[in-house]
Amino acid sequence: MAVVREYVLKTPPGGVKRYDHEALCDLLGVEDRSRVIFEQAVGREAVCRVYPSNPLMGVRDMTANDLVMDERGRIQLGTYFDGSPLRFRLFDPRTGNAQRGAVFGTTGAGKSRLVQAILIACKNSRVVVHLADLKHGQSVPEAAGQVATRVTTQYEAVLMLRGLVAEAERRMAEYAAMGRSGFVKDDPDPLVYGIIDEANRLLEKGAPFREEAALLIKELGRTGRSVGVGIIIAAQAGHLDELGGSDTLRGMLKEGEVILLRWSSAMMQQLVSDGLLPRGESLQPIPKVVGQVRRIRRYDEERVDSEDDVNSQGMLYHLTGIRPTSMARTFMVGSVAPTPGFDPLILALYGDHAPPGQAIDLEAYVSAKEQEAAAEGGQASTPSAVPAPEPGPDTSRMSTAQRILAALPADGLAEVDLMAALEVDGGRRVARASVRTNISTLRSKGKLARPDGSGLIVPVLAD
Ligand SMILES: Nc1ncnc2c1ncn2[C@@H]1O[C@H](COP(=O)(O)OP(=O)(O)OP(=O)(O)O)[C@@H](O)[C@H]1O
Ligand SMILES: [Mg+2]
Repeated sequence: MAVVREYVLKTPPGGVKRYDHEALCDLLGVEDRSRVIFEQAVGREAVCRVYPSNPLMGVRDMTANDLVMDERGRIQLGTYFDGSPLRFRLFDPRTGNAQRGAVFGTTGAGKSRLVQAILIACKNSRVVVHLADLKHGQSVPEAAGQVATRVTTQYEAVLMLRGLVAEAERRMAEYAAMGRSGFVKDDPDPLVYGIIDEANRLLEKGAPFREEAALLIKELGRTGRSVGVGIIIAAQAGHLDELGGSDTLRGMLKEGEVILLRWSSAMMQQLVSDGLLPRGESLQPIPKVVGQVRRIRRYDEERVDSEDDVNSQGMLYHLTGIRPTSMARTFMVGSVAPTPGFDPLILALYGDHAPPGQAIDLEAYVSAKEQEAAAEGGQASTPSAVPAPEPGPDTSRMSTAQRILAALPADGLAEVDLMAALEVDGGRRVARASVRTNISTLRSKGKLARPDGSGLIVPVLAD
């Protein structure tokens, strides 16, 4: 039988001040650093175990059962090195609070597979998801059709966030009127999550919607939580400041669910200095290649052919969990090798039923300025093309769509006459193309008709 050696280390008052994994392994005479697991224990102790090989190397496959919320609102994402379950809270039934979650890790560390697991869990636990997959939909392609809303561009992601904030605000007002101070799941509203994979693209310096997206995410973290509207982001970041400015995520992270996969240099230091990781607690680094022994090769020795294959994907620390310094790993989600199409294993976990919830009507959150900019050939996705807001009388505050509806008499107008009416209604000038775009949008919403042959644009009046 393979033997595990365990050492209990007494540490000076205040816990471990500095911990050097390399030095510890040298001291123990272990060349394969990943066989040694170091864990800060309570009080003045630390535990160090030496395994025959890294205990997280053979994790099992994820099952649909792991991903159904238990009565405490948790799902099981994987396992700690000693076999105890790695749980992730999606909901807190005692407080009625939704979560704010963040998944960090360097490229290829396993963020998107973890997101995929959360998406599957939501679908199968009747939690509504609005998803932004900002790698053009390529991060979690199997999610198409498995979530209520799925967007793939930064601009749509902002519209989606506006929609989520609006939903949180609606709920606040409604619950207040009902005399409720908190969220009661599925009565009448479902638990809802906005999930953003590759959130770094939305929040990094120079990103076109950085400021607004950061504000909206912060707003959701602050007010959405108590009305059942949560937010989860996955990001690759070297530094929190890269994610929408210094304090956007800080508050969100301190009380949310934070998972750190294999990281890049500066990130962890910052999480510690920000107080996310208790001072004096240390994380053993997650190697890119587990089981690798760095050693010179003698002339007659051969290296194992697979020795440089990345094999630590999904290894992580659940920083806000009960064992923040214990190495854990997600179960295997889907195939390790890329599949030519959708991954059948992942599709099977999602199941065949329809996802809960309704898509957010993104168009409803396009601002009047953006509508005009888009119609005038500017790009809605570059805010510089959006004209500055114009203070003034009522019509200048109305969207083009609202002005069109206001200008039309009950029996309709020809397009030229509508244009003329818009010239003199006191609002800003609108281009014909913009008017046309708005007309077709209004038509698709059933608010305008264009009876065949008449050449008239007729409002559809509500009775
Ligand atoms: N839980 C897992 N189960 C099975 N394979 C995994 C798991 N996590 C990661 N992998 C493997 O690692 C690869 C990279 O994982 P993933 O795409 O989740 O990383 P990522 O952090 O999202 O990377 P990127 O920054 O490139 O988006 C996957 O294609 C898969 O082969
Ligand atoms: Mg990814």
